[in-house]
Amino acid sequence: MTEQLQEQLDDLFEFLRFPSISTASEHAKDVRACGEWLVKKLTSMELAVELHETPKHPIVVARNVHQEGRKTVLIYGHYDVQPVDPVELWDSPPFEPEIRDGRIWGRGSTDNKGQMMAHVLGVQQMLEEKGELPVNLIFLFEGEEEVGSPSLVPFLEKHKADLACDIIAVSDTGMVARGVPTMGYGLRGIACCEVTVRGPSGDLHSGLYGGAVANPATAVARLVASLHDGDGKIAIDGFYDDVKPLENWEREMWAQVPGVAAKDILETTGSPEIFGEPGYTSAERLWARPTAEVNGIGSGYQGEGSKTVLPAEAMAKFSFRLVPDQEPKDIAKKVEAHLMKHTPAGVTLEVEVGHDGKPYYVDPNSAFGKAGQAALEIAFGKKPVLIREGGSIPIIKDMQDILGADSLLLGLALPDCQIHAPNENYYIENFEGGIKMSQVLLEELAKV
Ligand code: BES
Ligand code: ZN
Repeated sequence: MTEQLQEQLDDLFEFLRFPSISTASEHAKDVRACGEWLVKKLTSMELAVELHETPKHPIVVARNVHQEGRKTVLIYGHYDVQPVDPVELWDSPPFEPEIRDGRIWGRGSTDNKGQMMAHVLGVQQMLEEKGELPVNLIFLFEGEEEVGSPSLVPFLEKHKADLACDIIAVSDTGMVARGVPTMGYGLRGIACCEVTVRGPSGDLHSGLYGGAVANPATAVARLVASLHDGDGKIAIDGFYDDVKPLENWEREMWAQVPGVAAKDILETTGSPEIFGEPGYTSAERLWARPTAEVNGIGSGYQGEGSKTVLPAEAMAKFSFRLVPDQEPKDIAKKVEAHLMKHTPAGVTLEVEVGHDGKPYYVDPNSAFGKAGQAALEIAFGKKPVLIREGGSIPIIKDMQDILGADSLLLGLALPDCQIHAPNENYYIENFEGGIKMSQVLLEELAKV
């Protein structure tokens, strides 16, 4: 390992040691400390750095000295991470990063600290070696992506003029397989909600009352089951109304993309069989079709042995992945109407609508898109594949709407990086490739 790579890894490891879990209020001070570390790091690179307070977690902005006549490139990333539970399933502690088998293991190693650090360190290297950057650069790093970026939208509105840019670069998405550079030109949107079903005023003896009053756990199971038909198609009235049909060029292009055949998906997920909406390949189901998912369901006794109880309440958490041109608010209304209509007799239903984000889609072959593809090709030595992403980064569409700039999605996550799960990891080869890519990218974007 070169001395330079060792130093870059040391920086990343320091960054990874902060348990910056944005959703857990007890970690608010760790999120802040992580943001402050970033300020120190960027200041040491002689960038002008600002830490902006928000109602939740700080936003960090850094820039070089901007010059007239150069392209302005905004690089976005997030320094918050997902919770670590179930922590007992980690092979090494989530916030004590370590290297095994060519990968860095730890929470945030891929999503998104490792990917965003590749850009920071790429810029650092370029500044050290060349003395300046070929573009006007803005780094925009937030600590709330994993909770839906509530502070960033008002921040964008307020600082619209300061954040004006020609193009945005983001590494917070995937690479379809090792050694296959991947550029994303779409993201699914999302709409979340939570339901509570209530029956009796307290838990009941299921022998004394079972059969005479409705069971909320049964009711929630029926609601969950009502979302799909037997084939896996979503059964909510009007759900598909605004879905843009897939075009042939995309279907043909995706048929050539490695890493997303049924066998690859079975291998990475460990599922026994492939499943999904009839008439579509796995890639099409993931990148161009909407979903209805149950993220959590709970009610009743879950301890050892049996307890004959009729639970008073049951809950479920849902998220819906959306594609162009579905509107999250419209989908939330349709979902709510569906749940109301399908609530069985004998219980009450409360629906709490959660955060959402619009789907995103751009032309991958625009002038900037071509520059992004060129950067990936130079850094990874192969022509990139072009995909849409199954995941969501709602702020990307907001930045397009508010700042008027498109985003290049230059993913460095691999299918087995286990983001959001125990044993999250990041391939060192992608960290190194990312550091190189970020430098070539600035050069390519400067030429557009
Ligand atoms: N980096 C992910 C999104 C992602 C991962 C997109 C891989 C494409 C490929 C991001 O941090 C994330 O997890 N987003 C959430 C958004 C939600 C909390 C609003 C998601 O997709 O669930
Ligand atoms: Zn994430």
